[in-house]
Amino acid sequence: MRVAMIGTGYVGLVSGACFADFGHEVTCVDKDAEKVETLKSGGIPIYEPGLDMLVARNAREGRLSFTQDLAEAVRSADAVFIAVGTPSRRGDGFADLSYVYAAAKEIAGVLDGYTVVVTKSTVPVGTGDEVERIIRETRADADFSVVSNPEFLREGAAIDDFKRPDRVVVGTDDDRARASMNELYRPLFLNETPIVFTSRRTSELIKYAANAFLAMKITFINEIADLCEKVGANVQEVAKGVGLDQRIGGKFLHAGPGYGGSCFPKDTLALTRTAQENDAPLRLIETVVEVNDARKRAMADKVIAACDGDVKGKTVAVLGVTFKPNTDDMRDAPSLEIIPALQRAGATVRAFDPAGTVEAEKLFDNVEFVSGPYFCAEGADVLVIITEWNEFRALDLKRLKSMMKAPVLVDLRNIYTLEEANNAGFAYTSVGRPNG
Ligand code: UDX
Repeated sequence: MRVAMIGTGYVGLVSGACFADFGHEVTCVDKDAEKVETLKSGGIPIYEPGLDMLVARNAREGRLSFTQDLAEAVRSADAVFIAVGTPSRRGDGFADLSYVYAAAKEIAGVLDGYTVVVTKSTVPVGTGDEVERIIRETRADADFSVVSNPEFLREGAAIDDFKRPDRVVVGTDDDRARASMNELYRPLFLNETPIVFTSRRTSELIKYAANAFLAMKITFINEIADLCEKVGANVQEVAKGVGLDQRIGGKFLHAGPGYGGSCFPKDTLALTRTAQENDAPLRLIETVVEVNDARKRAMADKVIAACDGDVKGKTVAVLGVTFKPNTDDMRDAPSLEIIPALQRAGATVRAFDPAGTVEAEKLFDNVEFVSGPYFCAEGADVLVIITEWNEFRALDLKRLKSMMKAPVLVDLRNIYTLEEANNAGFAYTSVGRPNG
């Protein structure tokens, strides 16, 4: 099939490259000339493991191309995906749909022959109806269906999530659209990936409900972690004992500094707003949003407490600033709350991140970024692990300790044990586990 992918952000680029790899002919469209040029010349504007090879191979074999020309890409396409951003609207937290609607209008003007228009962007319930209305209004004669097909891609594992998903969700009542979607995802169905065919509105809500549930699971274990600290229990063991119950499941039960990223914070907020607007408030999720925001701020206090209640004039060494490993994405990263709070408390902050430095340097004032964990620790009063990059999991703790001014380790991702830290001579603070 011929596919036009509108938007070459995380979702658009990964989806476009994966559809090409399924054997379809994909044209990725973006308004940003520089981005298109970068992609055409083999560069990848984002950090996503494996994406460069996937893009290069499919481009070389002629199934994947990039353009600014939306009209040409859409005209020849059987399926057009809208994969543009839906950021939180400033002030009210609703999803900002202006990019989606602008794309719909542009697409409408150039539709040619029967086309499936698919919303991949995360959009509130009813957006598909509005996209359909806009297209119909712009082009009364167009032959098209509007389908909802949400993505469930984790940054850092996006290609695998696309090619080996737990399920594919497709929202449409139209048989022709259903046939096209079956064809697009054919390689997955041959592998017996479950496909949930449902109505468009239900499909739109599935995406938000899934993300809200995962955010709630994380927030739940984070609160249990706080309780563990008070009562002398170990949250990792609680999570294991709880998660082995198949009704609960062990995933997304890692306690930490609070969830961040491009999806959970924005989607939970947007969902609560939609729910309020429809007079069916989601009080659980409203609380999740509040608790998670407060948690990020509280993590700075944890660091300060580990430094005998005072970081004034002290040097804090931070390992990892991105919202999670294997990405350069800084959106809603816990570090964005923790680091400024430590600076306000009088600390000097030095940091290292394997991929996030370029982005992070734009977002922090007065943070010195260095080129490795050992440089980071040199002369510091405390070492704080905020993001669990693999390369932080087997550090030479004795060497680190010998370089630091004070032997204090704050591990906000529980990647070490109290015993390991103590053996290396560190005073150790983690999340929801005994300290010492
Ligand atoms: C998420 C969803 O997983 C994906 O399905 C959706 O489409 C987009 O949003 P992503 O934001 O890339 O993906 O990352 P994810 O791995 O889900 O992590 C989100 C945040 O939760 C990170 O800040 C991570 O550190 C945190 N997290 C995750 C925890 O604190 N504990 C966990 O157990 C899992």
